Amino acid sequence: MARKLYIKTFGCQMNEHDSARTADLLAAAKGLVLTEDPEEADVLLVNTCSVREKAQEKVFSQLGQWRPLKARRPGVVIAVGGCVASQEGAAIRARAPYVDIVYGPQTLHRLPRLLDEVERSGRAVVDVSFPEIEKFDHLPPQRVQGPSAYVTVMEGCSKYCTYCVVPYTRGEEVSRPLDDVVAEVAGLAAGGVREVTFLGQNVNAYRGASQDGAVADLALLVRCAAELEGIGRIRFTTSHPAEMTDSLLGAFREVPALVGHLHLPVQSGSDRVLARMKRRHGVSRYREVVERLREARPGISLSSDFIVGFPGETEEDFQATLDLVDAVGFDHSFSFVYSPRPGTPAAAFPDDVPLEAKRERLAVLQERLARGERAVAEAMVGTTRVVLVEGPSRKDPSMLAGRTENNRVVNFTGEPSLVGAFVPLVITEALPNSLRGRRVDSSSAPARV
Ligand code: SAH
Ligand code: SF4
Ligand code: F3S
Repeated sequence: MARKLYIKTFGCQMNEHDSARTADLLAAAKGLVLTEDPEEADVLLVNTCSVREKAQEKVFSQLGQWRPLKARRPGVVIAVGGCVASQEGAAIRARAPYVDIVYGPQTLHRLPRLLDEVERSGRAVVDVSFPEIEKFDHLPPQRVQGPSAYVTVMEGCSKYCTYCVVPYTRGEEVSRPLDDVVAEVAGLAAGGVREVTFLGQNVNAYRGASQDGAVADLALLVRCAAELEGIGRIRFTTSHPAEMTDSLLGAFREVPALVGHLHLPVQSGSDRVLARMKRRHGVSRYREVVERLREARPGISLSSDFIVGFPGETEEDFQATLDLVDAVGFDHSFSFVYSPRPGTPAAAFPDDVPLEAKRERLAVLQERLARGERAVAEAMVGTTRVVLVEGPSRKDPSMLAGRTENNRVVNFTGEPSLVGAFVPLVITEALPNSLRGRRVDSSSAPARV
């Protein structure tokens, strides 16, 4: 009987995508079959995140749950990957000695070999190095699963915001060559993919080598992907405000396949806080970028990440964040209480905002963001939006669900043959977590909204 693999993933889309690629790799190289049930797995893998303390702690509670499985079946292999593994390395085994493999985000392609080594020697192995970007040359082509796919175009981050672990866990920015990425997208399109999302921690810092010896930026990559037969929609995430170049603004102006939506984290609306976070831009620069984006792509939807309670954040600073939220009118966004991370510069700043104030600010901000999000949904009612049909609706399988450019799920009535197609819908109703729509005659619909 085929041996089974169970994967638990924490963290960002890059981690989710890494896990999917890991499953493909271990299926191809070791014949391991994915299971939903850890009880029957021969290999248990946890892909970890260390961006906030809460995420990091989940790893050890997960490992604690797996420990008895291994006690019952000593042949079971337990592997820890991702950002906690990268940061802690062999120290993971000091807290959880029953872990067999510790591997990093840049060494996951070596897993088949690491598994062989454990099986041969019976000893644990740790490999959390940052080899040059060899990973993508060693992964099998990704399996097409539905009309949307993720493509990692760069790894790492060289921005070193003072609160953030990512540059330490994922290494410096390294981009894949342009032709490799375009070939991957072409392969996905041939398999039926209609929408690609380019992934990178700082994806708009993409600088990929191109065949003629030049360096391609993200705008050029977007333009190349838009030329490919079958690709109707392109997204990218996550972007840094300081990397929003004229070239990218040009892509928003001229490439209709690039969606009218951008996740552009700002973190805070106070210049003082942004400077201490070392974000490399102030509030006025952020607002200028927003203005230029809206000029390049009227109606573009913008979302953001926020951190409240950063060391030294006063009520006045926090008020400035709320003012920015009101001024920009963000779509679905994320907000977090600051979490000091060992090894980052901000961990040495006096953490002087009382816990009560942090919690209160988070609640106020989230309420304000939710209000903005509702306003965006309500303003969509009565307009025509093109959705990419993903499959049956989760709530009512007799209906279909599609996604708008700004990532809203719209449920509507239509034939199952529409899955994978772009369909214009009139938005008829805004519900708390989704929209409802009705099909319109495509000839009367605007090309894109
Ligand atoms: N590369 C992306 C995302 C980084 S992690 C970017 O630069 O925007 C995702 C989000 O987690 C960040 O945008 C930030 O809002 C949050 N985050 C990162 N480190 C944090 C910390 N130490 N405490 C609280 N939130 C944090
Ligand atoms: Fe972290 Fe800043 Fe890099 Fe984003 S840009 S990953 S927040 S260091
Ligand atoms: Fe977490 Fe690492 Fe992603 S720290 S957010 S899994 S890059």
